[in-house]
Amino acid sequence: MKKVKKAVIPAAGFGTRFLPITKAVCKEMLPIVDKPTLQYIVEEAVASGMREILIVTGRNKKNIEDYFDYTPELDAVLEENVQEEFLKISRSMENLADIYFVRQKHPIGFADAVMYAKPFTGDEPFGILLGDDIIYTEKGQTPGIRQLADSFEKTGKTTVALMRVEDADIPKYANVKAHQVEERLFGIEKIVEKPKIAEKFSNDAVIGRYVVDSGIYDVIKKTPPSPKGEVYFTDSLGFLAADGCLNGYRFEGKRYDAGNKLDYMKANIEFALRDPALGSGLKAYIKEIAEKL
Ligand code: G1P
Repeated sequence: MKKVKKAVIPAAGFGTRFLPITKAVCKEMLPIVDKPTLQYIVEEAVASGMREILIVTGRNKKNIEDYFDYTPELDAVLEENVQEEFLKISRSMENLADIYFVRQKHPIGFADAVMYAKPFTGDEPFGILLGDDIIYTEKGQTPGIRQLADSFEKTGKTTVALMRVEDADIPKYANVKAHQVEERLFGIEKIVEKPKIAEKFSNDAVIGRYVVDSGIYDVIKKTPPSPKGEVYFTDSLGFLAADGCLNGYRFEGKRYDAGNKLDYMKANIEFALRDPALGSGLKAYIKEIAEKL
């Protein structure tokens, strides 16, 4: 099985849950401590051996392209002032990965965004990483999308990330009926997009990491649109599940949802607590205000 070396990141959504900031700053650029959420996703792909990355953007997403570009004016000033540390941070961006961009003309969903990747992936397998899901792994642990890619490279089957969720969270995610194959590996029999709690198959939810092969494009093309007119990627995965060609991988690591305000705030606090320069000061402050609340 071919090695997974390419990654696709759909990033065309409006970010309505973060209005008003998303009128001017796209949601992928919102920071967790000092890096945009998108950079965590790009770093995960790179750490997973996927250095060629396609970001599917849309209108009003120009600051994403600028961010990953070279900044000669800023770097010149930093050089002149001998601000080595800042210069290193600024320069780290340009060599991070080979990043390509394509614009999704109409933001009509995830499956449509994936179709834009066809000229980029050709017939190679690729990872798909959704920007709202951040997977934190400890040093030495295998990064999230690499865990799926390792499994894909062994089994040859499209693989999605699985996470156990409480009943209350069932309607937020794709939900699966699956049987266990290995400790973390599951064969998916059925998959449904965001069911009501009463209609769940299980408490296994799909998180935004997928490893697919180029067969996915034909599957998306034959997937009928939902009543709202959008082709759901989950419905395409349903065809693979029905043929016994879909696996789930219960990944190791902590997942943060950067797509809603409360979890986004929690992610900021936890990442700041792990930061050696901020951790102890922030911890002391949290303890102090917690007593006053
Ligand atoms: C998307 C997918 C859903 C998946 C979720 C993971 O939904 O459509 O199947 O479970 O990501 O975060 P969204 O969160 O974009 O509404």
